[in-house]
Amino acid sequence: MRYDFDTVIDRNNTNSVKWDFCDKFFGTKDVLPLWVADMDFQSPRPVIDAVRRVAEHGIFGYTGIPQSYYDAAIGWMKRRHNWDIQQNWFVFTPGVVTAINMLVRAFAQPGDGIVLQTPVYYPFFSCVKNNDCRVVDNPLRLENGQYVMDLGDLEKKIDDRTKMIILCSPHNPVGRVWTKKELTELGALCLRRNLLIITDEIHEDIVYPGSTHTAFASIDPKFADRTITCTSASKTFNLAGLHISNIIVPGPDLMRRFQQTLMRCAVHSADPFGVAATEAAYRHGEDWLGQLLDYLKDNLSFMTQYIEKKMPQIGLIQPQGTYLAWLDCRYIGIPQTELKDCIIYKAKLGIEEGVPFGAAEPGYFRLNFACPRSILKEALERLEKVVTSN
Ligand SMILES: Cc1ncc(COP(=O)(O)O)c(C=O)c1O
Repeated sequence: MRYDFDTVIDRNNTNSVKWDFCDKFFGTKDVLPLWVADMDFQSPRPVIDAVRRVAEHGIFGYTGIPQSYYDAAIGWMKRRHNWDIQQNWFVFTPGVVTAINMLVRAFAQPGDGIVLQTPVYYPFFSCVKNNDCRVVDNPLRLENGQYVMDLGDLEKKIDDRTKMIILCSPHNPVGRVWTKKELTELGALCLRRNLLIITDEIHEDIVYPGSTHTAFASIDPKFADRTITCTSASKTFNLAGLHISNIIVPGPDLMRRFQQTLMRCAVHSADPFGVAATEAAYRHGEDWLGQLLDYLKDNLSFMTQYIEKKMPQIGLIQPQGTYLAWLDCRYIGIPQTELKDCIIYKAKLGIEEGVPFGAAEPGYFRLNFACPRSILKEALERLEKVVTSN
């Protein structure tokens, strides 16, 4: 079946955080929203049908995870990521951020250090702080137009109380799809320095030609033993509101400790819509995903060419994965103190500034390009207007 990603589907008045609640974030409703990381596209038809079947049954009681769900998720990981996972490695949480908060609570004590590779998805900072732990900042380095890890810096910053790293792979917001070599080197360091690895691989399926996502825990059984992998079909198939994520914990000791924390927080049941939608997506969504990736790649090329031609003063860090673009707007001729206001209130563009992600300096913005091309074009035109009026 051919899917249509061009048609604009009105998301106003659907309680969408991205569209209906942007005033809470930007202080105004009058922006074109390209912020929150969900997509302005409908999920694949088999997913919609699965959700409809649950809705029409009309009884929304407590829900468990059927064997068929495990089989679908295990099959997906094998087919798409060449990773063999076992059924007894699964834990289910309503979200990846929920899981990471609970993992920090399970495996770190107040005052312990937790490594973040900044700039990074900013709820990671809250996961550390909510549990009274310390951020150990290991900034990424920009080299030849791409960000790289600085393992020398990391090695120096680890002390006796540094317990874990929260890895973002693929990386939000800088769009890196880490190579197997980079991940192997990081893993070796974590083994040597006794760090636990929480790897957030929620963007694992959104990867562009030329890059390949490697599941960190699949590289080496020694890595797997000390790694917890956070995944979900939510980014891939646009299911974030359905609240189910698959957390993969191969190490029995880590599993036991994590389950104790889950029990203390009474996290044990699943959402019937989330279960049905995720299984349908993993079973029947591959064709849609192929078309989505083509569309996103074309959106990215469109944006790259637009920026090169009309706003070359903006630096677009080419994402290898994710549908998020990291824009370097430091040299567009607008004073840094006015930049955010200019983009949000003058251009009326709802994109997020980089400082909360831990960007070393102001002037960076994150733009979500998972939208129909006409919306992306409108966003770029708005940006161009403020850039060229300076
Ligand atoms: C890296 C990363 N992790 C987690 C999330 C959110 O996951 P969840 O909605 O399952 O908590 C996002 C959403 O943007 C993300 O980019």
